Amino acid sequence: MKRILDWNKYIEKAAETVSEGIVMLKNNNNALPIDLNETISVFGRIQLHYYKSGTGSGGMVNVSKVTGILDGLLESGVKINNDLLDIYKKWDEENPFDLGDGWGGEPWSQKEMPLDEKKVEQAASASSKAIVIIGRTAGEEQDARIEKGSYLLTDEELDMLQKVRRHFEKVIVLLNVGGLIDLEKIEEVAPDALLYVWQGGMTGGKGTADVLTGKVSPSGKLPDTIALKVADYPSDPYFGNKNKDFYTEDIFVGYRWFETFAKEAVLYPFGFGLSYTTFEIELTYAKKYDDESIISVRVTNTGRFKGKEVVQVYCEAPHGRLGKAKRVLCGFAKTKELVPNESQSLKIKINSKDLASYDDSEGKHCWIIEKGKYILHIGNNVRNCPNTFSFTIDDDIIIEQCAQALAPVEAFERIKAVETAAGVSKIMESVPLSNVDEKKRMIDKLPGDIAYTGDRGIKLCDVRDGRNTMEEFIAQLSDHDLSCIIRGEGMGSPRVTPGTASAFGGVSDELEKFGIPACCCSDGPSGLRLDCGTKAFSLPNGTLIASTFNRELVEELFSFMGTEMIANKVECLLGPGMNIHRHPLNGRNFEYFSEDPFLTGQMASAELSGLHNVGVTGTIKHFCANNQETNRHFLDSVVSERALREIYLKGFEIAVKNGKASTIMTTYGAINGLWTAGNFDLNTVILRNEWKFSGLTMTDWWANVNYRGLEPKRSYYVPMAKAQNDVYMVCPDSSEVDNDIMSALESGELTRGELQRNAANILGFVMGTQAMKRLTGDGDTVEIINRSESECDADEPVVFYELGNKLAIDLNGVTSVKGRNYSFALTVNTPGWYKVTVTASSTQSSLAQIPVTLFAMGTPCGTLTWNGTNGEPVSLSCEIPMFSKYTAIRIYFAQNGLDMSSIDFELVKKVENMDIAFAAEE
Ligand code: BGC
Repeated sequence: MKRILDWNKYIEKAAETVSEGIVMLKNNNNALPIDLNETISVFGRIQLHYYKSGTGSGGMVNVSKVTGILDGLLESGVKINNDLLDIYKKWDEENPFDLGDGWGGEPWSQKEMPLDEKKVEQAASASSKAIVIIGRTAGEEQDARIEKGSYLLTDEELDMLQKVRRHFEKVIVLLNVGGLIDLEKIEEVAPDALLYVWQGGMTGGKGTADVLTGKVSPSGKLPDTIALKVADYPSDPYFGNKNKDFYTEDIFVGYRWFETFAKEAVLYPFGFGLSYTTFEIELTYAKKYDDESIISVRVTNTGRFKGKEVVQVYCEAPHGRLGKAKRVLCGFAKTKELVPNESQSLKIKINSKDLASYDDSEGKHCWIIEKGKYILHIGNNVRNCPNTFSFTIDDDIIIEQCAQALAPVEAFERIKAVETAAGVSKIMESVPLSNVDEKKRMIDKLPGDIAYTGDRGIKLCDVRDGRNTMEEFIAQLSDHDLSCIIRGEGMGSPRVTPGTASAFGGVSDELEKFGIPACCCSDGPSGLRLDCGTKAFSLPNGTLIASTFNRELVEELFSFMGTEMIANKVECLLGPGMNIHRHPLNGRNFEYFSEDPFLTGQMASAELSGLHNVGVTGTIKHFCANNQETNRHFLDSVVSERALREIYLKGFEIAVKNGKASTIMTTYGAINGLWTAGNFDLNTVILRNEWKFSGLTMTDWWANVNYRGLEPKRSYYVPMAKAQNDVYMVCPDSSEVDNDIMSALESGELTRGELQRNAANILGFVMGTQAMKRLTGDGDTVEIINRSESECDADEPVVFYELGNKLAIDLNGVTSVKGRNYSFALTVNTPGWYKVTVTASSTQSSLAQIPVTLFAMGTPCGTLTWNGTNGEPVSLSCEIPMFSKYTAIRIYFAQNGLDMSSIDFELVKKVENMDIAFAAEE
């Protein structure tokens, strides 16, 4: 099938998403919207450097153009105070943006321009309103901190706000941030308008300008509670600990905590967000059925602007035996754009399971609706719910019996809510511990071996097309084949789109002969990360997407993304990221949606539906409880089974059951002592046995794996495979013999049946991919229209070298700079395949990813990824074809932090006949 990807429509959809995700916290004094006749003074250097996303794998989308807020305003026809803009431009030139040092090394913020009071006064006389932009980033391997320039304002930022406030009648503050930042000082300055504009991807400024100019009325709602202080979040005492993080707050995450125990600590409640207009929500129908409740409302625009409203439904359950949070989001719906006086009826279905609690006490392990009075609160944020509907449940209802799984193995205490005559109070109780015999559980579920038949000529498409069974197909795979298929190849495997995270499926020549295509996965979550420098679309980040509360819109946006994936031959996006915003300083909060699991699950499902509509998919990650970056490879999250089920697993459960997720990535860390990558309870008992997941699972990149009680190790394939985590991501060459797997098969530690079971999961997924369709000649094609080709690199004079059978080029002095290229040209005397060895060193962390892509004649032919090398030179190689007498070589650096030493070429295969050469290349 031929698909069309209209880049303009993609941009429009992304900008629409941005404008719906912006959360307006304040708008006094008619500060907004801006009138196109007034002149605006824009303060803050970030006007020239919009943060399109956070940092790390989720932020490495190469784009040709980012529309920042200033660009957006200018494009919308807003008159800008140009004298002030010139001052900023000049200062910015003299004080360039600091990219920092490599992976996880970009500063949280940039130095701000000191403001001369006179200049501010002048600006105020030339324009009526000021916009002040504050920017922040954080990301993978870099949590935010309670430091000036990270969570707190810098002195220069505060000074800027104060001076602008002194001189301007109307001040609008925009927060271009990935997660929450401190509002205390900002509130003291008392701006007229305050908006979280988040990080909106490459069209962020366009969507933001649409809100500022009133083209669109803001309709985003907070996906997190904004508390007065970080210390008010109940996870704060343990967040950032290096080895163990006790989840003592249990289910009381975010608003569940604040609404139950600490209402006074809230500055802006969950679900809050202003509009330029006002709405009335009227409850028109409510009924409780066995499996669901139905709520109907009529929403009327009662103000003077057009706008959209989000209706939210929160459950207040009886405290019962278990103790409950005062409010739990269980449904929401968003209106269309309503003009003044227009009404719309919305129907919200509430699943009974979303009213249930998980009883993790000994011998119970079930989802239960405890008897008592249930009140559904209906409104437009967790605090403002004027409508209620209540019903009584006479007897406890067990709605799902589970097996104890993932429970803690060490004693600790958690918070519980109890109801007394004086009201609800907080007590501590011991957490129920695990009674499970994990080894026995695994042995009881051990799959039988399928006898080896050798190659019977059955191809994977024969299984797809119903001519043979998966069992017959798998019987043909040797132990070595099975050991290859559980190891993804990357990063930058030449078997798939260059510069991507991994190849999986057909990762050896033998596997390919069985008709198994190599499938490609690529970061994610908000745009394609193509380390070879290929430009892609950078989408708004997860937090912004959640703030839209608009499933349909997000689904539409991700269908564009899916089509772009097909164009780049990427089967599987490494996203959505769906960990819970347990603490505001988690560096990866920008990639994730919310502090609430229901909203998280709904948004992830919407993204997946969008991808599924066009025949690709996303990998939901990181499964589960990846809630801080500090020491993430070694951190043990000690958490009750109830908190896991109700908070940290719940979003994933929704994405599996409703969103039909078919690939999942586990985390780097451990839950209750067992690393998730080799965790049978997580990967098999809960995911497959309970939730009936039938897709493929993978580890995070170079993740640690362990057996209970033993130290974790990287590339520890055996416990991973036994847990039914299917693919280890990643190894440099999947076709190499792995002695550990072979000897585990020999000793019986690992069975052929276990490997075959995992292979069936992998192949079941591979069979339905675009890669499979391409192999059988019916792959979709994509024509991209309305996209400008502005992808040029800075040209420096090209040096030519004579390439004999061998050549060594000294690269000492060349240092990687993110986004830049180093180019030269070769005169190729003998056409053929060359082994290229690049030697470089890095003082970055051993898990830093510093990808370098080699291009030959504009064609990417290999991405080599260094980790930190302790400053020692490390050589990586790939083979590249060079058939043209003059071949331009381009080395593209996707990250900072690498010091180059040399690049060596060695002829490995002469090719005289060009037809054969190109056929081989294809
Ligand atoms: C991240 C993943 C990512 C992977 C591949 C890891 O460092 O945690 O989220 O998908 O790298 O880039």
